[in-house]
Amino acid sequence: MQAVLKNNEAFIKETWNRIADKIAVTSERIKDSMPYTTKNGVYDDCQTDDASWWTNTFWTGILWHMYKATGQESYKQYAQSIEAKMDAVLHGYDELHHDVGFMWLLSSVMNYELTGDDQSRKRAMLAANTLSARANIAGGFIRAWNGDNNAGWAIIDCMMNIPLLFWASEQAKDDRFKHIGVMHADKTLKHFLREDGSLNHIVIFDPNTGEMLDNPGGQGVKSGSSWSRGQGWALYGFSQAYNWTKKPEYLQAVKRIAHYVLSCLAVNNYVPLCDYRQPADSQLLDSSAGALAACGLIEIAKAVPEDEQALYLESAVRILKALSEHCAVWDLSDECLLTDGTSAYHSDPEGRYHVHNGALIYGDFYFVEAVAKLKELL
Ligand code: GLY
Repeated sequence: MQAVLKNNEAFIKETWNRIADKIAVTSERIKDSMPYTTKNGVYDDCQTDDASWWTNTFWTGILWHMYKATGQESYKQYAQSIEAKMDAVLHGYDELHHDVGFMWLLSSVMNYELTGDDQSRKRAMLAANTLSARANIAGGFIRAWNGDNNAGWAIIDCMMNIPLLFWASEQAKDDRFKHIGVMHADKTLKHFLREDGSLNHIVIFDPNTGEMLDNPGGQGVKSGSSWSRGQGWALYGFSQAYNWTKKPEYLQAVKRIAHYVLSCLAVNNYVPLCDYRQPADSQLLDSSAGALAACGLIEIAKAVPEDEQALYLESAVRILKALSEHCAVWDLSDECLLTDGTSAYHSDPEGRYHVHNGALIYGDFYFVEAVAKLKELL
């Protein structure tokens, strides 16, 4: 691990400095809003027209990374202001979905871990209770979305929500939250992960028995394809599940996923396609999938024996270099850090959330998180 870090020290430091310089400027325009994508180079704000949108605290997470690195008060103030605004969603209840994991991990948990704010701990515990209540015990999974016909639907993205349950168990000194996280991760292992290391995006279970009924196409090309962000959610999600539980099956699974993802990335110079099985003439990319994969690979490198670490760490750096070279926007022509993000292979060009080869706030977040991890290892 040390040799890889030393060989890439200049890249890691330079990339972090470029991120920090850009966020120092953009944060004074974006402030305490809830950006999702950029329009004409300017980040939008979802807080009035979709307060419960799942991406609404990724900017908060970036602000916390910057606060951790710099101690600058404005980052903390903006992040805490967004977290307070999210109370209306948390207490409004009806609009909550399984992505309460993303939403409160990147706001309240990050706040609590950095400042010890007790109000934040309570918010995160409330979110964890909500996520636990979405567990279908008979089915063995956590329900993804709301709506009348979605009782049996689970999606791979949820692997990134269950770290909230592991965190909550540690806080509560009671494994009941963790048991739900493990239940869901085990079900995911069994029904989402394919033999070759690729994964389904959506699986529909019988909500009364847990029998797998279907795996329809989701945000990738079609059922049976390989949506790159979904592979990234699994890669980073299972690496965190392993960190929290030390279940060897999760480490074995995440290595299998990693090897598959790396073979897919190698054929496109380490810049992810939107779907690793998309038609050969499609130019759709998804930089967020690469940033996520880099985070997961760094976590694997920390978990494996020393003689295996270089493979995963070097691969993470290779992806980040590709993103930095091909997708990063280092000047102020656009407020995003990464372009070439894609919301979904088939999304509607007129739709509110349609992004094809553009900015996605979560791509920026995981890029910052990956480089922050490397900087901390240095
Ligand atoms: N969680 C939804 C997505 O990855 O777009």
